[in-house]
Amino acid sequence: MLRKIQQTTEFLKPKLHSVPEFGIVLGSGLGMLSDVLRDPVVIPYHTIPNFPLSTVAGHAGNLIAGWLDNRYVLFMQGRFHFYEGYSMKEVTFPIRIMKELGVSTLVLSNAAGGVNPDFHVGDIMLIRDHINLFPEHPLHGPNDSHFGTRFPDMTTAYTPHLLRLSKEIAFRNNIPLQEGVYVGTQGPSFETPAEYRFFHVIGGDAVGMSTVPEAIVASHAGLQLLAFSVITNIGYHHTDTDSHIVRNDHDEVQDAAAHAAPKLSTLIRLILQEI
Ligand code: HPA
Repeated sequence: MLRKIQQTTEFLKPKLHSVPEFGIVLGSGLGMLSDVLRDPVVIPYHTIPNFPLSTVAGHAGNLIAGWLDNRYVLFMQGRFHFYEGYSMKEVTFPIRIMKELGVSTLVLSNAAGGVNPDFHVGDIMLIRDHINLFPEHPLHGPNDSHFGTRFPDMTTAYTPHLLRLSKEIAFRNNIPLQEGVYVGTQGPSFETPAEYRFFHVIGGDAVGMSTVPEAIVASHAGLQLLAFSVITNIGYHHTDTDSHIVRNDHDEVQDAAAHAAPKLSTLIRLILQEI
């Protein structure tokens, strides 16, 4: 693994114009966040040694480096999901690469289903914490201390001062921001009504099929971490009747995410300016 990481890093380093300070992972429908980069370098995943390929419609597959308001940033336009068949090591490989390239702060974004009954489609949720329900762990197997410690603490995986800063900046700029716990599940089926209710009961506010493996590996690697969900559909409803059955659908998830993307882009940009 270390050799693969070094090989990939050596391929990427000469293509970048500076050392990236921030790594940003763009989720479903959120790809436009990288459009404002100055002097962008686009590196398709399929050209990068040891990189897996992105397979889901709507998930572009590029690494994009560039200047965002004078900070050098590395974007992942499209990520690798466990449900696509990738191993947890593959899903989190790009996070290791980011760390090796010099990234110190990681920003993750995703599309998620709301299980907090006060949430609405289009809301942005700051991820304060997560519940890992994936069937495999990205740190399963021998631990290489080059990457991090055997038993990483997760108490402050979502960096406390970045959580505070994000809320303060959102408030100052009148950007509505929800906050909550992200439940990570393997997918690819959306949840049954009973499962959404269960996630609400165990303390979840949103549910999705990504982010948790990357967050664990980022935390293991000592990266500062900030993560956001765009609420693209509502899974848990106030009433328990089936008077308003709302089906979940990937196209709607994409549309809702794309609709909220400018708001999230603005927020992330403002936050990066102040980190
Ligand atoms: N469940 C799981 N993942 C998701 C959802 C959902 O309702 N919406 C977007 N990603």
